[in-house]
Amino acid sequence: MLPALVLGASAALAGASAIPSWETYATGFNAAVPVLSAGGHADCIQGNIPVAASAMNTHLNYTGPANQRAATETIVEFLQVNATLPMEVLGDKVNVSGTYNINAKLCFPFGSAPNTSSVQFLTHGVGFDKSYWDVFSADYSYQDAAALKGYTTFAYDRLGVGLSDHPDPIQVVQAPLEISIAHSLIQMLRSGSIASTSFSKVVGVGHSLGSELTNAITAQYPKDVDGAVLTGFSVDTSGQSTFFAGLDLVIASQFVATRFPGLAPGYLIAESRAGNQFGFFRAPGFAPALLDTAEGTKQTFTIGELFTNSMLMSSAPGFTGPIDVVDGQYDLPFCQSNCLVPENKAAAVKGALYPNAASGSTYYIAGDAGHGVNLHYSAGAAYAHIFEFIENNDLA
Ligand SMILES: *[C@@H]1O[C@H](CO)[C@@H](O)[C@H](O)[C@H]1NC(C)=O
Ligand SMILES: *[C@@H]1O[C@H](CO)[C@@H](O)[C@H](O)[C@H]1NC(C)=O
Ligand SMILES: *[C@@H]1O[C@H](CO)[C@@H](O)[C@H](O)[C@H]1NC(C)=O
Ligand SMILES: *[C@@H]1O[C@H](CO)[C@@H](O)[C@H](O)[C@H]1NC(C)=O
Repeated sequence: MLPALVLGASAALAGASAIPSWETYATGFNAAVPVLSAGGHADCIQGNIPVAASAMNTHLNYTGPANQRAATETIVEFLQVNATLPMEVLGDKVNVSGTYNINAKLCFPFGSAPNTSSVQFLTHGVGFDKSYWDVFSADYSYQDAAALKGYTTFAYDRLGVGLSDHPDPIQVVQAPLEISIAHSLIQMLRSGSIASTSFSKVVGVGHSLGSELTNAITAQYPKDVDGAVLTGFSVDTSGQSTFFAGLDLVIASQFVATRFPGLAPGYLIAESRAGNQFGFFRAPGFAPALLDTAEGTKQTFTIGELFTNSMLMSSAPGFTGPIDVVDGQYDLPFCQSNCLVPENKAAAVKGALYPNAASGSTYYIAGDAGHGVNLHYSAGAAYAHIFEFIENNDLA
């Protein structure tokens, strides 16, 4: 049962909520509150989900950064040709385990009975939080667009991001633990411990690092998701040095002190609006207001993630579901700013990583978009393509 206080405090929204048996669907969330999606087409439950997870992280022989000068030096040394730093810091494997509060938002189509047959599991990338999937208005919000199609969506802030827990950014917030948390959440969605609903189908939908994590899930736990939608993703990582350099990473607690007071210095963030544009946008394919939104809500990245991301991308021969790869035409980190040179890099993912993916697998290039597809004018067309993939493969 929800504390009456929580319901009372949000009485206006709860009254507007069309979700029947609200308390039942709020199962698994602490301090759940009802919220509407940006465009009002989805009725959502948001709160913290305690997630038990453990993983073999890597001990990193790295402390600090002591100050911004040291942080910048780390990035410079990480990106240099024949870099030795990434290998030098890697120590022994260590078992990290705990129960982490993960802030999540489960959205149902507004005004109809919750669709409990299938859920889309949305994992955001670097520089964003879960609001990447519910950005700005009905024209851009993936969760709105999905609700209009009758789909249920589940978005969450990755560990160390947004309203989720912020543990040690060097030793704890690393790729292996994030994979384990995603796996645990998917098991909870399937078992009924979230929303008192045993979702029989789960579709993994990622963006950028979120797609790399979704790829890792398909490789390590091939039965976790019935289908995978990998956006802002390919096997060409040659643009990543330029991407990381262009973000102009700074210590979040020092440079954006109002939003990240007291955060450990291993949490980094893009310094400026220009850096944000450089990494995620492509003009003239976006409205300036969307860059303002991205800058106003920009999120952190950890040194632990920087040093463990290279372990992520892997072949998933055990995955036999369908995949859909969706890239902005001018994606910087995964296409070096052109997804069609020297080949269609979205199309190439299946051959490179998914030898046994189902024949319904497909790909899509979102015209005039950069890496942050959801923030561009072509977002709606990309969503329409994804939903067609979902329908065609019986994933709804
Ligand atoms: C880590 O340790 C915990 C508790 O000691 C154990 O339950 C878990 O299986 C271990 N995790 C891994 C990935 O070995
Ligand atoms: C850790 O790094 C320091 C220098 O940064 C080095 O002196 C030390 O030997 C390293 N320790 C391990 C266990 O690699
Ligand atoms: C150093 O980098 C160059 C250029 O990327 C590469 O061709 C070479 O194989 C690298 N050498 C080593 C030892 O990794
Ligand atoms: C959920 O939506 C799909 C697609 O619209 C539909 O086929 C399915 O029957 C719905 N399931 C429920 C339980 O409403």
